[in-house]
Amino acid sequence: MVPLKRRKLSDTGKSGTNTSGGTEPSKFPRVVLFLLERKMGASRRAFLSQLARKKGFQVEELLSEKVTHVVCENVSGEDGRAWLRSQGGSRPPPHLLDVSWFTDSMRAGRPVEVLDRHQLQNPNVSLCPQELQAGEPEVEVFSVPSYACQRRTSLENHNAPLTDALSLLAENAELNDEEGRGVAFRRAAALLKTLPSAVMSASQLRGLPCLGEHSLREILETGTSTEVESTKGSERFKALKVLTGIFGVGAKTADRWIREGIHDLHQLRASGQHYADINQPVTRAEADAIEAIVEKAVSSVLRGAQIVLTGGFRRGKPSGHDVDFLITHPEEGREEGLMPKVVSWLEKTTRNSYLESKDGPGRPPSNMDRFERCLSIFKLPGAAETPQRAWRAVRVDLVVSPISQFAFALLGWTGSKLFERELRRWAGHERGMSLSSHALYDNKQVNEGAASEEEIFAHLGLEFVPPSERNA
Ligand code: UTP
Ligand code: MN
Repeated sequence: MVPLKRRKLSDTGKSGTNTSGGTEPSKFPRVVLFLLERKMGASRRAFLSQLARKKGFQVEELLSEKVTHVVCENVSGEDGRAWLRSQGGSRPPPHLLDVSWFTDSMRAGRPVEVLDRHQLQNPNVSLCPQELQAGEPEVEVFSVPSYACQRRTSLENHNAPLTDALSLLAENAELNDEEGRGVAFRRAAALLKTLPSAVMSASQLRGLPCLGEHSLREILETGTSTEVESTKGSERFKALKVLTGIFGVGAKTADRWIREGIHDLHQLRASGQHYADINQPVTRAEADAIEAIVEKAVSSVLRGAQIVLTGGFRRGKPSGHDVDFLITHPEEGREEGLMPKVVSWLEKTTRNSYLESKDGPGRPPSNMDRFERCLSIFKLPGAAETPQRAWRAVRVDLVVSPISQFAFALLGWTGSKLFERELRRWAGHERGMSLSSHALYDNKQVNEGAASEEEIFAHLGLEFVPPSERNA
C-alpha cells in the first residue's frame, strides 16, 4: 500500500512541469491543507500553518473546494463532522484528520499515508520536529490530546523536576481546600508526564492545553519558581504535610490543629492528643502478602468469590499509601452480605496480621460510590513509631461489587484519581454520558452495560488504555 501511494505522489510530481522551480507554492500539489482554528487556537494555528508552508505544503486560510485535508486538534470526530456540515459546500474534503497526521507529515517532510489512527477520535501523542529559524537548534514541539484519558501515561516520567513542582503546588492547593486550583495543577502535571522526552524550552509547549497561567516558564528557566519556593518554606504547608502524614488525619483535622497552634508531632504529643501511626509506603511485596491473606479469607467464606488488586498497584506502581482490593462473585447476588463475613474471618483467623476494621460510625461512607466497603488495618512487620511494638499498621481498602457492575468498579478503583476524573469529564462533556464506578448512562439515560473495561472504553469512544498507562 505504501509503495503504491508513493508512486502516485511521485507520478504527480513528474507530470507537473515546474516542481523544481522553487517558485512553485507547493511541493505536493495534490495536498491542500486547512487547519481548523476551533480548540487549536489562533496562535497555534498560525504557528503550525507557517511550519507546514516552510516544509512545502500548501495551506489555505479559508475552507474551499480546493482543500483536501482538514486538520483538527482536540476535536472529536462528531464535532469535526458537524462543523464541516455547518460550512455547507457541495463537496466535502476527502480527509478530516487529527493533528497527528499533520505532525507525522511534518516529521516525514511529506504527506504521509492516512492511517486509521490519524482519523479524528484516535488521538495519539505525537512529535513535530521543526526548524524555528535558520541557525536555531531543532526542537520538538509537543502535541497532546487534552483529556488525560485519551493519552497513555506510563510510570516513566521525562519531566520529573517540572511535575514535582506542579504536584507540590497541587498538593498545597488541595490541603487548603482550593479544589479548582488543585485540579488545574494536576492536569498540567499529568500533561507533562505524558511527553516522550524532557521539555527544554517553554516554546515547545506553545498552545498546549492546561499549561496557561502557571509559573512553568520560570521553573523551566531556573529549575524552580517563587511560588514553589514560598510554598515549600511556608510554616502552614510544612505543618499540613506532617500532620496529614498521620494515619487517618485529613486536611480538616490538620487545619484545626494548626489553628490550635499544633504544627508538629512534638506539639501534638504535648497537647495530650493521642495519635497512632505515620503513614509509611507499602511495597509491592507487602501488597502481595496481604493479597494472599485476603484471597484466603474471601474464598473461605464464599466458594468461587474472587478478588482483584486495584489502585496504584494494578497500575504497576512499586509502592503505595494503601492496598486496594475489589471483591466479587461470578453469580449475581451471591456477593451480598459478603463483607461482614470476610471481616470476621480475618478477625478470627489472622489475629497477628489483622488489626481492625474501621467502617463504623464516624467514618462517612465514600462519596464516590455506594459499594459495600471496609477500610481495614493490617499489621505488617517493620519499624513502628512507638518502641513498644514491632509492627506497623497498613491501610487496606476492601470493596465488594456485584458482577454486573464489576467492570465499572474495576475501572473506577484502578485510578489514577486524575485519570478517573478525566474519564468522567470526557463522558459528560464530549459524549453527553454519565460514568460512575457502578454504570455508564448514555445521553438518553439508557444504561450501557459492560462486561469488561475494554467495552467501557469502546462505549465512550476512546481507545483502550491499559492500567499501566493510566498513571496520569
Ligand atoms: P487510592 O486513593 O488508593 O489511590 O485510590 P492509588 O492510586 O491506589 O494511590 P496510592 O498509591 O494508594 O496512594 C485508588 C482509586 O480508587 C478510587 C480512586 O479513583 C482511586 O484512583 N477511589 C478511591 C474511589 O473510587 N472511591 C474512594 O472513596 C477512594
Ligand atoms: Mn491505593
